[in-house]
Amino acid sequence: MKVLIHQTPERAVRCVADILVKRLDLQPDTVLGLATGGTMEAVYARLIKAYRGGHVSFDRARSFNLDEYIGLPPDHPCSYWRYMEDRLFDHVDFGAGATCLPRGDAADPEAEAAAYERAIARSGDIGLQLLGLGANGHIGFNEPSSSLSSLTRIKTLTRSTRAANARFFDDPDDVPRLAITMGIGTILRAEEIVLLGFGEGKAEAAAAMIEGPVSASCPASALQLHDKVTVVLDQAAASRLKLREYYELVHPGGGDAVITPFQPAA
Ligand code: F6R
Repeated sequence: MKVLIHQTPERAVRCVADILVKRLDLQPDTVLGLATGGTMEAVYARLIKAYRGGHVSFDRARSFNLDEYIGLPPDHPCSYWRYMEDRLFDHVDFGAGATCLPRGDAADPEAEAAAYERAIARSGDIGLQLLGLGANGHIGFNEPSSSLSSLTRIKTLTRSTRAANARFFDDPDDVPRLAITMGIGTILRAEEIVLLGFGEGKAEAAAAMIEGPVSASCPASALQLHDKVTVVLDQAAASRLKLREYYELVHPGGGDAVITPFQPAA
């Protein structure tokens, strides 16, 4: 796990946006795994800026979002479809039909989840998966106790997740209780994973994810099993890491590792 600790949330956001831009430059037809939530808003704003500046194009890329609330149709103001249209899709050049989210209003949500999983596999799986981090350690809507090999399915949201997401709704009681989410097994099939977390509220979850045991109690800890994960944090989110000094030694200022060959004394 590569742990990059940045001085400010803005720098952490820039770092993540740059990773995406670089990946699309190297492989324009990358299948992206995308996330929603407060953390991603600034990342998408930077990607739009990069697109407008001619530094990135999405015209050959495809995307699958992690999750969607059950019961919300795509045009509902609080659906993740709408979030993605407003914050990214309507402002960049993804091709028609290249962006996918599960349908929250599907008549048969279980069948919808299974079809979504098949569609991801048919696309060759995710090339670059973007993740946020729940304060309770969730990734996607894989709440604590999720199977570490789970596939896309229906999950019941915890009270704390509903409370955290209530800020996007007029009335806290309107936050749906169920969601369709990619599973942890689905996420772990991605070729490369980038997780972004900032703020004190993520510090405990970040420490459990990076340094705790691999456990369903902290679903994000499953990322320890993946061979290409970059965790990008700001100072506050990194504040409970026991090995923080080591991560900062390897990646000063959240930058690339400095690898200088050993020079034996003459
Ligand atoms: C959203 C998602 C969630 C969020 C997480 C953090 O698609 O999958 O796992 O990334 O809840 O949310 P914020 O960024 O709002 O703190």
